Amino acid sequence: MLSGKTLVLGVTGSIAIYKGADLASKLTQAGAKVEVIMTESAAQFVSPMTFRSVTNRPVVTSLWEMASEFSIEHVALADAADIIVIAPATANIIAKIAGGIADDSLTCTVLATKAPVVIAPAMHTNMYQNQVTQENIAKLKARGVTFVEPGYGRLASGGVGQGRLAEIETIIGTIKQVLGRNGDLAGKRIVVTAGGTREAIDPVRFIGNRSSGKMGYAVAEAARDRGAQVTLVTAPTALPDPTGIEVVHIQTALQMKEAVTKAVAGADALIMAAAVADYMPKSQAARKIKKAAAGPTLNLELIRTPDILTETRGNFLRIGFAAETEDLVEHAREELEKKQLHMVAANDVTAPDSGFEVDTNRITIITRDGKAEPLPLMTKRDVADRILDRVVGMFKATDSKSVTINVTKTVKNQGWFTIPVKGRALFPEAGHEITLLTEDGEIATNRDKDWNIGANLKPWFRKHPELKEDDKLHITVIKPMERYHIKIEIVK
Ligand SMILES: Cc1cc2nc3c(=O)[nH]c(=O)nc-3n(C[C@H](O)[C@H](O)[C@H](O)COP(=O)(O)O)c2cc1C
Repeated sequence: MLSGKTLVLGVTGSIAIYKGADLASKLTQAGAKVEVIMTESAAQFVSPMTFRSVTNRPVVTSLWEMASEFSIEHVALADAADIIVIAPATANIIAKIAGGIADDSLTCTVLATKAPVVIAPAMHTNMYQNQVTQENIAKLKARGVTFVEPGYGRLASGGVGQGRLAEIETIIGTIKQVLGRNGDLAGKRIVVTAGGTREAIDPVRFIGNRSSGKMGYAVAEAARDRGAQVTLVTAPTALPDPTGIEVVHIQTALQMKEAVTKAVAGADALIMAAAVADYMPKSQAARKIKKAAAGPTLNLELIRTPDILTETRGNFLRIGFAAETEDLVEHAREELEKKQLHMVAANDVTAPDSGFEVDTNRITIITRDGKAEPLPLMTKRDVADRILDRVVGMFKATDSKSVTINVTKTVKNQGWFTIPVKGRALFPEAGHEITLLTEDGEIATNRDKDWNIGANLKPWFRKHPELKEDDKLHITVIKPMERYHIKIEIVK
């Protein structure tokens, strides 16, 4: 997502500037065109050559020198920027920007830009906590500037406290989040699960699985970068919490179910990439099980865990991952039907380059229309984006599409109909109440199992004796998924 973006990186006179060079290097490696502007003080700490070398771009150091193609026109970079990032940012630069001062290249550029601005402060704790610095930060936040909070720890200036430049990954995560704010998932709330659950045997042992969480984290980050508000419910993994995502840590399948049930309230989609244990020990020993006491054989009685996707009801797209070792597509299709999902991403976990632990995956996307699209081997991030492309497509469908029902003998005589496969992404979870707006007023009806709409509709069908076989019911989705407001027209 950084590829092809013009990113202006302002670096200022903080000892943390060496981390700014690392940031410039990582952003360049990610494909961004990084234009560095250094303040005069910054150049006292590090030579502009450092930044020039890692970005392969000229570095702007003064309003007045002619070394860079941008120095002649002091607002050229302000126009070119997709985003301006100041890291590390001194107390001084924050104060100057808050006060509208424009006495060097960086402050002129910030004052002249319409691009979003991200500031990552780094300074001694007392400077950071000083009321005037806090007031300046509050002022800039109110004007839409995004701050990446400094961390706690040992400071170069001595002592321990808040003021260390945030981790580079956190700054990059924030940049991606800000750049993606108006992405194709803007305004959507997406819940993602990740990792393998741990089912305790005793206080020190558990039954686990080989899920690394990488796929789920990739989906969560990709959704964030496309503008979604993301909640990630995760079992233990070795991965750091992604920036800009609400992360809920759980251990067991039961805890995951509880956390997901809470998180999906008001969500637009649930994407279950977690490897949830199918079985858990019937009981957990209160103390560590000792070899001497257990003897040569230890029998564990296992019981089923809840199926989270089946049991989590609501008005959102439900997408599952199926890890299979044989008959991939067939098993995934069964899963889709059994759990009434909108989509399944099936992966063959026996392949060495796909599935657990590795950074790549090879999946087949199976949708309700019965289609199975095998994707080539790609990074988990790319897989995540391909899945989200489908999700965006389904959301778009819900914004515009309508569904046509053919009036058959069953529809006419029994007064219920089935949502055709192609339209199912437009409709909510089975069992949920739907309001059908008809020319006779509103009818509240229930979707029962298997995408049928029926309850309470018989009287309406009876009122329309003119309905004949081969007529069509044209259902326009007015408020898809969440609001279930459907208009029925009889199309002759
Ligand atoms: C060794 C040294 C380290 C400094 N580190 C910081 C720092 O981390 N944060 C900060 O706000 N100021 C720091 N300062 C003070 C700034 O460099 C000073 O306020 C300067 O005017 C900032 O200019 P600029 O904002 O234009 O880069 C440091 C100064 C020195 C001499």
